Amino acid sequence: MSAAIIDGKKLAAAVKAEAAAEVQQLKEQGVVPCLAVLLVGEDPASQVYVRGKANDCAECGIESRVIRLDAATTQEELLARIDALAADDAVHGILVQLPLPAHIDESAVIAAIPPEKDVDGFTPVNAGRLLTGEPCFAPCTPAGCLRMIQSTGIDIAGKRAVVVGRSNIVGKPAALLLLAANATVTICHSRTRNLADICREADILVAAVGRQGFITGDMVKPGAVVIDVGINRGADGKLHGDVDFAAASEKAAFITPVPGGVGLMTRAMLMKNTVAAARAALERQQ
Ligand code: GUN
Repeated sequence: MSAAIIDGKKLAAAVKAEAAAEVQQLKEQGVVPCLAVLLVGEDPASQVYVRGKANDCAECGIESRVIRLDAATTQEELLARIDALAADDAVHGILVQLPLPAHIDESAVIAAIPPEKDVDGFTPVNAGRLLTGEPCFAPCTPAGCLRMIQSTGIDIAGKRAVVVGRSNIVGKPAALLLLAANATVTICHSRTRNLADICREADILVAAVGRQGFITGDMVKPGAVVIDVGINRGADGKLHGDVDFAAASEKAAFITPVPGGVGLMTRAMLMKNTVAAARAALERQQ
């Protein structure tokens, strides 16, 4: 069997088109959705990500404000910037690009973002709401994974889903989103025993480990949906996922490529969250 490829580029374009249509509606009601992005320091990958986010905003008709701060910015200065954006009614989403310089306490900074402007879904309030099943901003990468799984047309309810990776940004929220969609979910990590056996039971396999080729072909159940969140720079200088794509695509029914997969969906879901934040702000006023 050779797996069908879940085309992140095409799906991200569809999600952004949805966001753009919603932006049009909001503009007709006098609201221009606005995303503020705070970037501290010169991390090259972060610079690329932030540029990409600003481009996506422009494409969707969302206003973006990129605030670039010196690497020596103090935590107090950064918190003051967040407070100012929190108080600014024209700003609907606030995103602090991670990682932050080592002298800044990431948790304290994230917690300072008002939950209603937390379009990354990283604050403890939104994480708690995701856990309890209340309306919330779900983190963009796992939300993009779910959208990719749904795009295959499979019924998630009752399926065995295995998430490899337990980060707060991807693994844990991916598991919660799959659980909310009624999958039977297992989270695996570096201390998991019999990882290959567990992965082989997965109708839906989400790989978010950060190690090139970690998921080998023998770990994939025939007919599975394989979602590869990994973005690893290989010795060949190219980007590779966490999944051995060639081997896994012989077994899977559906698989995401790297590049051209989940990464594009993350940014598209950020646009959706920003639009949702703007709409919610308008509804609070009415
Ligand atoms: N750094 C890497 N990925 C992300 C992301 O999704 N959001 C933020 N804020 N920082 C990141």
